Amino acid sequence: MAQLPQSTTRDSFGSRFGVIAATAGSAVGLGNIWRFPYIAGENGGGAFLIIYLVFIVLIGLPVMLSEFAIGRSTQRNAFGAFRKLKPGSKWFLVGIMGIAAAFMINAFYSVIAGWTLEYLVKAASNQFRGTDPQGVSLLFSEFQSSSWRPLMWTLLFVSISAFVVIAGIKKGIEKYTKILMPLLVILILILGVRSITLPNASQGLQFLFQPDFSKIQASSIIVALGQAFFSLSVGMGTLITYGSYIQKKENLGASTVSVAFADTLIAVLAGVAIFPAVFAFGISPESGPDLVFITLPNVFAQMKGGYFFALMFFFLLSVAALTSTISILEVVVAYFTEEMKISRLKATILASIGIAFLGVLCSLSLYNVPEISIAGVNLFGILEYTASNILLPVGGFFIVIFVAWFFKGKLLKAELSSGSRFKIKYYPYFMFLVRYIAPLAIALVFLNGLGLV
Ligand code: PHE
Repeated sequence: MAQLPQSTTRDSFGSRFGVIAATAGSAVGLGNIWRFPYIAGENGGGAFLIIYLVFIVLIGLPVMLSEFAIGRSTQRNAFGAFRKLKPGSKWFLVGIMGIAAAFMINAFYSVIAGWTLEYLVKAASNQFRGTDPQGVSLLFSEFQSSSWRPLMWTLLFVSISAFVVIAGIKKGIEKYTKILMPLLVILILILGVRSITLPNASQGLQFLFQPDFSKIQASSIIVALGQAFFSLSVGMGTLITYGSYIQKKENLGASTVSVAFADTLIAVLAGVAIFPAVFAFGISPESGPDLVFITLPNVFAQMKGGYFFALMFFFLLSVAALTSTISILEVVVAYFTEEMKISRLKATILASIGIAFLGVLCSLSLYNVPEISIAGVNLFGILEYTASNILLPVGGFFIVIFVAWFFKGKLLKAELSSGSRFKIKYYPYFMFLVRYIAPLAIALVFLNGLGLV
């Protein structure tokens, strides 16, 4: 089969490693280091981890590969891709839903990313040194009660993401992720080693690795599914958009497996760094979104070279957050530039203003203005829950259905094999997953959550 044509005008990732680094940069972020531990903590630990891993393999991988194939085949944004493959149909709505999810996720994500910047400054000014667990909690609550600091950091973070996205794909996104992501992995490994040598560390490891299924409720299963989607950056067209920048000669299947593996490994390693410390310092594993911020500073305070490690950690965490927000922002910007024909600069500014506005409201709703809520749940919680646990899985459901039943077999095979360049022995398994297992599993999790099965 002939090589598929590569559009020459579109920006693209420059190399194999660049693709993996940028996609892993999108996948690895606060989802792994902030969200995974706190959610696993709230949902009982070990058993949650197992359900999560099953979802990554049976649902996450096929959705990821489907998105890549749709994106690279059409060379379009999340909305335009469906339009191109199925003109005149309602499939573009999946793209629209993704763009809505992108706004919501970017807003609450930028709030937490802002916290990492505050903590970077705290680390630089040596504020963790000599503090005990109460002191660390106090640092956190003092920061949260400030009327302006969390907002300032959110706005700064939104601006930095905008800056990188304006710079474009190769020069912006790819350049930074290639160096910084591997560094983050090394640092988390070091923190993990320090954490498991703390007193009582074994309790933390038990919590994370010893499954106790009696702690699992229907709600935990939905949350595990949402976390799998959130962490892999799938279900909203981020990887359709990134897929559209991948060169035709890259092997999509291999990239998918590498990225999902790296993402999962980093979440587990983050758990290994955090849970032993949770038990060693008498912190509740159910502390919620605050967990990382009230746990790790204790580890730094007790560590030789803690100053240096704290500084590196919060720097790299901010970078990891940045490589994720730019991928979320890119979904919206690609849509604006390609479908509404406005410049990259204008599109980015427009989207960022919307995100900043929503982000400020989210931030206020957490501590200082809890009245910004619906039915007793603050805006932050509403956006986080709706986007991760509903919009992403629903998006993923339609994406696999689309690939299984509406994406022409020949075109799909050509895309996955890069025009017969690669052997795709996995194809029948992939088809089985996208046709039956993934959509059924998503549907079952939802019905179960609604109490219907
Ligand atoms: N996967 C990212 C993280 O784990 C967050 C993200 C979600 C990015 C959805 C893109 C799309 O931090």
